[in-house]
Amino acid sequence: MEANFWQQRWASNQIGFHEADYHPQLLAHWPALGTPVDRVLVPLCGKSLDMVWLRERGHEVVGVELSDIAVRAFFAERNLTPTVLQRDGYEVFAADGYTLLCGDFFALTTAALGAFAAIYDRAALIALPPDMRRDYAATLTRLAAPGTPMLTITVEYDTSVLTPPPFPVAGEEIESLYAKEWRIEDRGRVHAQVKGQAGIEGVFVLRRV
Ligand SMILES: C[S@@+](CC[C@H](N)C(=O)[O-])C[C@H]1O[C@@H](n2cnc3c(N)ncnc32)[C@H](O)[C@@H]1O
Repeated sequence: MEANFWQQRWASNQIGFHEADYHPQLLAHWPALGTPVDRVLVPLCGKSLDMVWLRERGHEVVGVELSDIAVRAFFAERNLTPTVLQRDGYEVFAADGYTLLCGDFFALTTAALGAFAAIYDRAALIALPPDMRRDYAATLTRLAAPGTPMLTITVEYDTSVLTPPPFPVAGEEIESLYAKEWRIEDRGRVHAQVKGQAGIEGVFVLRRV
């Protein structure tokens, strides 16, 4: 999905992907990462409440998001007034342990992002079509230091009933995207609603080799 698609979604408030509560698989599986209380990267973060859950666990949060509508809404909804500055090609909003980089995830550099100890991917990989998923995985592989853990949540559903996004991503694709550079632990499947239809969520804990 190109930038315009997402900018349009935010501009017209078509954000059905945004959840009103913390993601149950985050709560259930985050402890498996064994992450020290340190900085967590949330790619394609939207204005996800999951960032609040992570912050409440003591993590600093660094999110990356194209839409400044999403970024501004995230801070406004918490009654936070961020500092805003231009750095390394991103508009950087920061307050209260949250740093949200507004700009293109695929252009990220370690200098722009800073160090991070773990990654949380909900509705990021699966927001992207196949060729962009390969670039997405390659970008994370490029940025993550050895040992960095990542919680990845995928979806699968009957493709005759729903159209993407989100894109269905099976366990085999997680293998083909990541197996060379990451150790992969498949933590199973749960029934879930995808756009109001019966679907399945996959949960994976990966660790950069
Ligand atoms: C399906 S939404 C998921 C948002 C969030 N992870 C959540 O769980 O609510 C995907 C988000 O990725 C953002 N996005 C898409 N392409 C991006 C890119 N290249 N760089 C940064 N953000 C991007 C979109 O604007 C959108 O907010």
